Amino acid sequence: MKKGVTSLGRFLIEEQRRFPEATGDFTLILEQIAFAAKIISREVNKAGLINILGKAYSVNVHGEEQQKLDVYANQKMIEALDHIGKVCAMASEEEDDVIHVPDRYPKGKYVVVFDPLDGSSNIDVNISIGTIFGIYKRVSEGENGCEKDFLQKGRKLVGAGYVIYGSSTMFVYSTGNGVSGFTLDPSVGEFLLSHPNIKIPEKGKIYSINEANYHRWDEKIRKYVEYIKNLEERQYTSRYIGSLVADFHRNLLKGGVFLYPGDSKNPKGKLRLLYEANPLAYIVEQAGGLATDGEQMILDIQPESLHQKTPLIIGSKWEVETYLKFMRGEA
Ligand code: AHG
Ligand code: MN
Ligand code: MN
Ligand code: MN
Repeated sequence: MKKGVTSLGRFLIEEQRRFPEATGDFTLILEQIAFAAKIISREVNKAGLINILGKAYSVNVHGEEQQKLDVYANQKMIEALDHIGKVCAMASEEEDDVIHVPDRYPKGKYVVVFDPLDGSSNIDVNISIGTIFGIYKRVSEGENGCEKDFLQKGRKLVGAGYVIYGSSTMFVYSTGNGVSGFTLDPSVGEFLLSHPNIKIPEKGKIYSINEANYHRWDEKIRKYVEYIKNLEERQYTSRYIGSLVADFHRNLLKGGVFLYPGDSKNPKGKLRLLYEANPLAYIVEQAGGLATDGEQMILDIQPESLHQKTPLIIGSKWEVETYLKFMRGEA
């Protein structure tokens, strides 16, 4: 008999049942992030109709002009998590410092990092954008969380995922037992399981990189990109959307590699370790892929600060391993 559709809620309960020691805290955090995603998705889908487009006339810690939707999405993520008593602190691309749960709410044993709206430059031109999140068990003592809780290696993540607001809205996450994808059915307002057990192809035919930076790349990077472009056994195509979540999601499903390397102007590249590279590196490893900064695996980097940047090369095993060979002068 054909099994009915599995909602995210049902999937989370069935996942939780597999771990008798599970307390349900984690399930609630993921459900709340999914709730925030639905609210953000609603605004994204009508952004052109209300005054949520355009600039917020404020700047974040990166000196980036904040879009109204950056600020809105950030607020919705905080509101979804601050009162449930499962989280003791949060860190966001859009907030300089650690976001503490207000005293009036109970604290929990997890901390959550997030990029509330990824691909902000694409909001006003109706191109796919996303939200990225990661969940850690707190390691600090005392009532409130602190920066130390966020400076854990990505290897310590207990869960991570992203939302992509594209032709449909999808919620993709892992808690260490494989990667599952859910598609929002707006008619019922539920995320329904559409991509069980996502695995990234061993090698692909897509490479994603902003070639406008070519003149600033290290010679080894240029050689790698030329090698990929001229590969005999298969013809690659270039796809670059400028929204990390969208570029990553396409490569996760179809295979391929996304690269935002360091260059002569930005030695550590542009992407942030805590709430962009680590959560996606966690997902890609769970799906059988790899993520590196060119020297070590992303998940093994010891973070030093909340907003530190890292070069990010992420995707199919073959493309990432080949990149590392070029960086080590072995290819
Ligand atoms: P955010 O909008 O969260 O600041 O992230 C933007 C990032 C990422 O989404 C994308 O891959 C990258 O910026 C694109 O950078 P370039 O425009 O320099 O290629
Ligand atoms: Mn930004
Ligand atoms: Mn981003
Ligand atoms: Mn962002």
